[in-house]
Amino acid sequence: MLTGKKIILGVSGGIAAYKMTDVASSLFKLGADCHVVMTKHAEKFITPEPFRILTKNPVYTDVFDDFHEEGYDVPHISLGRTADLILIAPATANVIGKLAHGIADDMLTTVVLPARCPILIAPAMNTYMLENPVVQENLEILRRRGYHIIEPASGMLACGDEGKGKLPDPEVLVEEVLYACEKEKDLAGKRFLVSAGPTQEAMDPVRYITNHSSGKMGFSVARMAARRGAEVVLVAGPVQLKTPVGVKRIDVVSAADMAEAVLREWKTADCVVMSAAVADYTPLEAADQKIKKKEGDLSIPLKRTTDILASLGKEKREGQVICGFSMETENLISNSLAKLEKKNADMICANSLRTEGAGYQVDTNIVTILTREGNTELPLLSKDETADRILDVIKEKLR
Ligand code: CTP
Repeated sequence: MLTGKKIILGVSGGIAAYKMTDVASSLFKLGADCHVVMTKHAEKFITPEPFRILTKNPVYTDVFDDFHEEGYDVPHISLGRTADLILIAPATANVIGKLAHGIADDMLTTVVLPARCPILIAPAMNTYMLENPVVQENLEILRRRGYHIIEPASGMLACGDEGKGKLPDPEVLVEEVLYACEKEKDLAGKRFLVSAGPTQEAMDPVRYITNHSSGKMGFSVARMAARRGAEVVLVAGPVQLKTPVGVKRIDVVSAADMAEAVLREWKTADCVVMSAAVADYTPLEAADQKIKKKEGDLSIPLKRTTDILASLGKEKREGQVICGFSMETENLISNSLAKLEKKNADMICANSLRTEGAGYQVDTNIVTILTREGNTELPLLSKDETADRILDVIKEKLR
């Protein structure tokens, strides 16, 4: 996904520097030409060697490390000039301060000055340091100059304090890189509404009815749409997934909550992708107290929930695109085509629970995209790749 991209990883002196080997390794595996620049203090936490091995490139620690390559090349200029993206992580208060004020007294801060590519900064420090107005002002200066500041994570810090200031997990940093530089922003200016995950229908305060949806497919659609520049609102049922970078998330529990959120957000959307596995039935009434067991069997009356997709289909405006999903165990195409018509959708992405590599929980899918113009059968793909192909069809419809 990052083939042909030159990425500079700037590592400064925080304890989280050791996590950056995972980031370097992931970027290399994604095809990036990754060059690590370390400060002297970073070397107190990790040596350059693992980075050199993982990226297969020289690691720069000093401005006078110059002339690594053949011919006349000055890395402290050429690295920044030729980079597609710079990620500085962890970024200490010291490095942030220097960058904000144009001080270039080491290789890392020097490389940044000639760069014209996107620059991502992941601050990592103690909460009290982070909250200090001088650090906040320096971050604001960088923001104003177009740097993207990655939100620090919260939790137990190395010094023993609890709070904000942790370096986000390596996979979050990699996703930030992908978000910033992977894609052509061909969905810029479009507003996407995506639903994902199951719903939970309460029977009483301790029990609920739900299904096996993991939310992965919908999260992939939201992630890829955001990477392609769309403004994305994701309405998510109860799932254990991290919010994709650049996506606004609304958490809901029941089918009724999901209907309320989707119908509200839909008014200003250009496109909706209903990948949520919305419950079709909910208990007629949720008991206030725990239902106690008695002799004999128990029946719980259920009532129909709102069919959200069908409601959207009824109030669709000119130019809006509606994409539904269809999960079947038999007669995949005929049942899914019936949904396309009945719900007045523009597209239905049909997937079968019976096909290996497709369906709930797994990271892959096999989807057939049904439209009134015809069907497109996608092969076995990752859910991110599947999402990308679905978005290609949506993009054509949005024209
Ligand atoms: N859907 C919805 N509201 C519901 C149920 C489903 O918006 N109450 C949407 C789903 O998000 C999906 C599409 O409708 O995009 C098809 O969902 P699916 O569960 O495959 O089919 P159903 O319409 O529920 O029909 P059936 O359960 O009979 O297959």
